[in-house]
Amino acid sequence: MYQSYISGVGAYVPPRSLTNFDLEKPLDTSDEWIQQRTGIVKRHWVEGDTSTSDLAVEATKEALESAKLSKDDIDCIIFATLSPDHEFPGTGCFLQAKMDMSGIPAFDIRQQCSGYIYGLSMADAFIKNGMYKNILLVGAEIHSRGMDRTPEGRNVAVLFGDGAGATILSRKEAGADNESHVISYDLHADGAFAKELWTPGPGTGNGKEERLTTSMIDEKLHYPYMNGRQVFMHAVKRMAESLTYTLKTNGKSVEDVDLFLFHQANMRINDKVGEIMGIPPEKVFNTIQHYGNTTAATIPLGMRDAIKAGKLERGMLVGMAAFGSGFTWGSGLMRF
Ligand code: ACO
Repeated sequence: MYQSYISGVGAYVPPRSLTNFDLEKPLDTSDEWIQQRTGIVKRHWVEGDTSTSDLAVEATKEALESAKLSKDDIDCIIFATLSPDHEFPGTGCFLQAKMDMSGIPAFDIRQQCSGYIYGLSMADAFIKNGMYKNILLVGAEIHSRGMDRTPEGRNVAVLFGDGAGATILSRKEAGADNESHVISYDLHADGAFAKELWTPGPGTGNGKEERLTTSMIDEKLHYPYMNGRQVFMHAVKRMAESLTYTLKTNGKSVEDVDLFLFHQANMRINDKVGEIMGIPPEKVFNTIQHYGNTTAATIPLGMRDAIKAGKLERGMLVGMAAFGSGFTWGSGLMRF
């Protein structure tokens, strides 16, 4: 019987950091508005020709180093992103080429802000069934180049940042409860809400002759749109619901959990989830104030920062929860 555990963690954000004040003029917004509603203070946006796979390369290198593994030890890549290098092939293939890891399978998955939890479940299942030994699970995004960075798009553009997080899931023989291992996860989606948080184009569902037309660009169909209130309501409800279920099915309570790593969409969402579940605020590790919402990267990025801050140590019981476009959502529990 095999189990998976996280053997390495890495993360990377591009050097250019923008405070809310930097966005005030170009987006007709204010530091006060952004902080009050989201908790965000700053975010990192790429410059030059950096691509999503470039960010992932840096996070991967740090994860390999922390796992004390070489790139040749990795036998599968799972790459979660909504902001790929190109329409196809998947960004996992570009990462693989840049890391010189040719031959191993490379999956791209598209569950947006829930991408890391979905990817974790896949990696765990592949390891448990004996297929792979060391899986690189990456979440990476460049949002800055995909948003309407004018006052018209300010409700979305202030929220998102660029960044990457990488973890390596490794195989071990099943052992005692206090040994590092992924314990459980819970996944959901409800496509009835697909258009509440989405980017329409390019795509075949826009009733146009081509997947991308100049008229689509004129109509700004290549930018993300969000019904903020719907997202808020559903995120709070679903994250709390799923995490409660995961804890209960594993016979654990909030008191048993040492640290909660939530998706970083909005500080108020996480505060509300904590309030509903009775989680003491000091048990939730948030990073949104520094990075904004980096979508598939938020949980591994938080993991890396929590380790650095001395808040996450081996042996700790960690609860995770995420909610995102789709709608997709889920939760996970692991002994780190
Ligand atoms: N700066 C200044 N004013 C703004 C901005 C901005 N960036 N964005 C919107 N406004 C204005 C609007 O124009 C509106 O003005 P009006 O009243 O004069 O018409 C007013 O602020 C209120 O706009 P709403 O869109 O209703 O703002 P709301 O109070 O709902 O807050 C927010 C928006 C913060 C996005 C909120 O809905 C929310 O927290 N939603 C959760 C969604 C979220 O956080 N998504 C993150 C990504 S999705 C994910 O990861 C799951």
